[in-house]
Amino acid sequence: MTKRRKLYEGKAKILYQGPQPGTLVQYFKDDATAFNAQKKGNIAGKGVLNNLISEKIFSGLEAIGIPTHFIKRANMREQLIKKVEIIPLEVIIRNVVAGSMAKRLGLEEGMELDRSIIEFSYKDDSLGDPLVAAEHALALGWVTDDELDQITAMTFRINDFMCGLFAGIGIRLVDFKLEFGRYVDENGDEVIILADEISPDTCRLWDLKTMKKLDKDRFRRDLGGVEEAYQEVARRLGVLPKGGLEGE
Ligand SMILES: Nc1ncnc2c1ncn2[C@@H]1O[C@H](COP(=O)(O)OP(=O)(O)OP(=O)(O)O)[C@@H](O)[C@H]1O
Ligand SMILES: [Mg+2]
Repeated sequence: MTKRRKLYEGKAKILYQGPQPGTLVQYFKDDATAFNAQKKGNIAGKGVLNNLISEKIFSGLEAIGIPTHFIKRANMREQLIKKVEIIPLEVIIRNVVAGSMAKRLGLEEGMELDRSIIEFSYKDDSLGDPLVAAEHALALGWVTDDELDQITAMTFRINDFMCGLFAGIGIRLVDFKLEFGRYVDENGDEVIILADEISPDTCRLWDLKTMKKLDKDRFRRDLGGVEEAYQEVARRLGVLPKGGLEGE
C-alpha cells in the first residue's frame, strides 16, 4: 500500500489524506476514552464494528435525503469520506434523561422526555466540551443563523430515522451526538453535511426489554461486557462480520 499522509489522530479515529482531492480516509481505532480522556482503554474489535455500524446508519440517512460525508467503506477499518470544515459544536439530541443531563439537573436516568431536546456543546477538549446555548454559537460566529436552522432540522430528522431503526431491533435510542461540517458541492455551493461517526461510542442505546446498556457507558462505568455490547448492536443491525473479528 502506498504511504498516505496522516492528517490528524484523534481519540477514536485517524484521518488520512484521501485518494481524490477533497476526500479523506477515516480509520477507526479500538482505543476508547471517557471523561475527556482521563480514562483510557481499548475495546477489542470496536474499530471494525463502529466502521460497519456507522456505514449502515450513514447509508440509511443518505437514502432518506440527509447529506453526509460518507462515500464508501474501503475495508474493515476504513471509510472514504468527503473532507469538511468541522463546525465546532457537538450537537446532542436527547429522547430520555441520562448522562450529563441527569447529573446537571439532579434527575433520574431513564425518565422519558415529553419532547426531544437538542443541546450544543463547544468542541474544545481543553475546556471539556462545555454546554453552550445556540446564542453563543451565533454570537461567537461559529455558525450562521441559516446554518443553525439547517443543523437543527437535520438533527430532528436524523433522530426520527434512528429512533425507528433502533426500535425495530429492540433498542431505545436514549441520546446521541452529531457533528456537522461545511462542504463545497459539485456546483460550488457551500452546504452543511453530517460528518464524523454514529456508533455505540456516540449514542446511548438501551435494550427495550431489559434496559441493558449496549453502548460506551459499559466502558465509562466499568459495567463489563463492553465488546459483547458493541457486537450485539452490530448483530442486530445485520452488520456483524460472519467470520468473526479475529485479525481485523
Ligand atoms: N468529514 C470530515 N472532515 C474533516 N474532519 C472530520 C470529518 N469527520 C470527522 N472529522 C473530525 O475528525 C476527527 C475524528 O477523530 P476522533 O473522533 O478520534 O477525534 P476526537 O479525539 O474525538 O477529537 P475531537 O475532539 O476533535 O472530536 C474529529 O476531530 C472530527 O471532528
Ligand atoms: Mg470524536
